[in-house]
Amino acid sequence: MSSKTVIEATNITKHFEGKIALSSLSFSIQKGELIALIGPSGAGKTTLLNTIAGLVPLHSGELMIDTLPITKYKKGKQFAKKVGVIRQQFDLIGPLAVIHNVLAGKLSEWGFFKSLLSLLVPQEKEVAIHALERVGLKDKTFEITARLSGGEQQRVAMARLMVQNPEIILADEPVASLDPARADDVLSMLTKIVTEEKQTLLASLHSVEYARKYFTRIISLKNGEIFFDLPTEKVTDELLTELYQLKEQV
Ligand SMILES: Nc1ncnc2c1ncn2[C@@H]1O[C@H](COP(=O)(O)OP(=O)(O)OP(=O)(O)O)[C@@H](O)[C@H]1O
Ligand SMILES: [Mg+2]
Repeated sequence: MSSKTVIEATNITKHFEGKIALSSLSFSIQKGELIALIGPSGAGKTTLLNTIAGLVPLHSGELMIDTLPITKYKKGKQFAKKVGVIRQQFDLIGPLAVIHNVLAGKLSEWGFFKSLLSLLVPQEKEVAIHALERVGLKDKTFEITARLSGGEQQRVAMARLMVQNPEIILADEPVASLDPARADDVLSMLTKIVTEEKQTLLASLHSVEYARKYFTRIISLKNGEIFFDLPTEKVTDELLTELYQLKEQV
């Protein structure tokens, strides 16, 4: 299988008011990888995902998405086809019907008038219904989003991402607010869809158990640095204990 590098980070560094959040990180991610990003609170996971999402500018280093430096992408359609984000709080519009939230995945592509028209008459309805079918929510297509449970809302967010269809999916603690059964369900569905669509997934998680169960590679961060970057089967309990240790032994 030929591999294609979709993210290449070289010495990327970010600080907030003098405090280092990412300290000269380098790694490369191949198309189709399922990567869990783990590490203690404050390690830099969200900052790293936000830099790849183009939300947080870097201080130094180079970040290539596909073949272009991230700074060269135009916001909107071009970047939306490369990178999609799924968040813990889903970013759904509660009072709207599910179908509108799913079709929001098309907004960057559609432009203003088609988007507006779609609020009255949903455009490309079949695309949305197909996505909802895949996440098992076809029967909720016209329900008000806010009336769905947390797990269902997370699936709506996944359907929206399927409609956007980016090459790379970034997820910041995608299951943090769900109970263990729902979390398992959502992660299993997310990793299955990503694999079927030949997309690439980078997800931060607090659960090492889920990282091991659903992801092929684990990158751990500690104090803004990469602590280890290994195929899942090489991650030992000793490494994990050391990763989450509160203070260095002296
Ligand atoms: N907007 C900001 N302004 C100032 N400092 C920030 C900002 N965002 C992050 N930081 C700091 O950068 C460091 C990394 O934070 P980040 O949110 O990336 O950690 P995290 O690994 O996602 O933690 P958690 O597991 O708690 O979500 C922390 O020390 C944090 O306080
Ligand atoms: Mg975070």
